[in-house]
Amino acid sequence: MEKSFLQVKNVSKSFFGNKVLSNVSVELKPGEFLALIGENGAGKSTLINLVTGIYVYDEGEIWIDGKLYKNLTPAEAQKLGIYTVRQELSINPVLTVTQNVFLGHELLKHGVLDKKRMRQITRELLDTVHLNHIDPDQDAGTLTMAEKQMLEFCKAVYQNPKLLVLDEATSALDDDQVEIIFSKLRKLQKEGLMVIFISHRLHELYEICNIMTVLKDGQQIVTETIKQLDEDRLISLMTGRKIQDLFPPHRDSQKIQAEPEIVKIEGGAFGKCRNITFSVKRGEILGIGGLQGQGQQDFLECLFGIKKLKAGKMFLNGEEINLSGPSEAMKKGIAYLPAERKTEGLFVSHTIAFNLTFACLDALSNRIGTIIKKREQEQLAMAFKAFSIKANGPNQIIGELSGGNQQKVVLAKWLARNPKLLLLNEPTRGIDVGTKKEIYELMMKLASSGVSIIMISSDTMELIGMCDRVITIYEQEINYELLSNDLTEETLVKASVFRRSGNE
Ligand SMILES: Nc1ncnc2c1ncn2[C@@H]1O[C@H](COP(=O)(O)OP(=O)(O)OP(=O)(O)O)[C@@H](O)[C@H]1O
Ligand SMILES: [Mg+2]
Repeated sequence: MEKSFLQVKNVSKSFFGNKVLSNVSVELKPGEFLALIGENGAGKSTLINLVTGIYVYDEGEIWIDGKLYKNLTPAEAQKLGIYTVRQELSINPVLTVTQNVFLGHELLKHGVLDKKRMRQITRELLDTVHLNHIDPDQDAGTLTMAEKQMLEFCKAVYQNPKLLVLDEATSALDDDQVEIIFSKLRKLQKEGLMVIFISHRLHELYEICNIMTVLKDGQQIVTETIKQLDEDRLISLMTGRKIQDLFPPHRDSQKIQAEPEIVKIEGGAFGKCRNITFSVKRGEILGIGGLQGQGQQDFLECLFGIKKLKAGKMFLNGEEINLSGPSEAMKKGIAYLPAERKTEGLFVSHTIAFNLTFACLDALSNRIGTIIKKREQEQLAMAFKAFSIKANGPNQIIGELSGGNQQKVVLAKWLARNPKLLLLNEPTRGIDVGTKKEIYELMMKLASSGVSIIMISSDTMELIGMCDRVITIYEQEINYELLSNDLTEETLVKASVFRRSGNE
């Protein structure tokens, strides 16, 4: 029998007297890929943080490579070959791609930085994940969320890890990009690489892992080989209930197409996009699909007034408007959920209550500007319930919440404004399957009450399951438009990867 590289034995961890991990044991041998599964706040990232030396555990033992570590530090963990790609990206936007890869591990030649070599290695790394279009000297801030995630992966792989921890490291990637990463992982697996993989996209776990551990409220519910654990049982173990039909039933798409247009852009130029004409109907859920980074985000940013409309016209309820910026967009009833929630969507060192009420101060205050406590409390209670936010209470600091619960707060924050047009960039990224279903139902309810929704998603099934219509973007142009009746995985993929020919 081969020896285990990692042994976590009966480990527990509390924060301020709140036990978030209780008696958890996992083990990894060379070549094994372990899936760590559980709802938002179940304790997955905390377990990872113990194994990577970010936090120190209270009880139990962690053995690595045959040695007991009581107070493992991040530096020690790295020395032992444990590297992490996290939910929160660590890419520094003002450094170049190369500088990011080598941050803290710079190569020297005769005592000075060997820039040429570092650039060359970065080029090779980028090529292995098909990021040929990215220049190693480019500022990392110019990369899309998905490209940043791929870059993090390259950075970790370059360190030649023994154990690679992927904490939702594929959450911003589309299917093709995930496949590129997986094929690299499979190659490394043959050389003995171990992986701990956390993802709320369960099919990804089934594709690449051999063992699964399910956590619920910090307790280890089960650890089994993947063959023993089918998806239905897995979901009921993690959520405590059965989930059938993740997506609510589709509505009558013809009826929706007959509704008036809420927003329309005609011949618009924004970001790198040119000559764009599209609209969204009242109560419609419009999806924006296509391969990553084709300009999808520019659509939402233009509608929210972040990117200027350089040419063409924008209409809101049939009236031409010229948004001066996001605050005007908000006044006009438009809300935007950005993809990078941490940096763009939250005040992480403030409480949940502050974050939730901040976005809708006007709705919660009386005429002289004082917040009406009762209304605030009602709003908070509603948000906690609607999104099943797992936290100690409204006064907990956002930064202490699990990744998924932070996302829920951002979403709740925007919905609290009762928008007429809701722009969602990857609305369920990082959100567990049980809550996903609730969010889908909420979206459908909003849409049915007349709210228009435009959503970007890298999850094909989500576009198919939720949208009344999808437009796909290809090189900053609208490529295809598909009505819900025509939406299948096949049509959507085709509409994303092939440029529409002129006579279609
Ligand atoms: N630094 C901290 N201080 C206080 N509580 C914390 C801290 N870090 C985590 N927690 C709490 O521990 C619990 C588990 O959080 P963890 O981040 O491990 O969840 P998770 O399973 O990774 O969830 P997600 O899928 O949302 O990322 C949560 O209730 C969270 O609020
Ligand atoms: Mg987490």
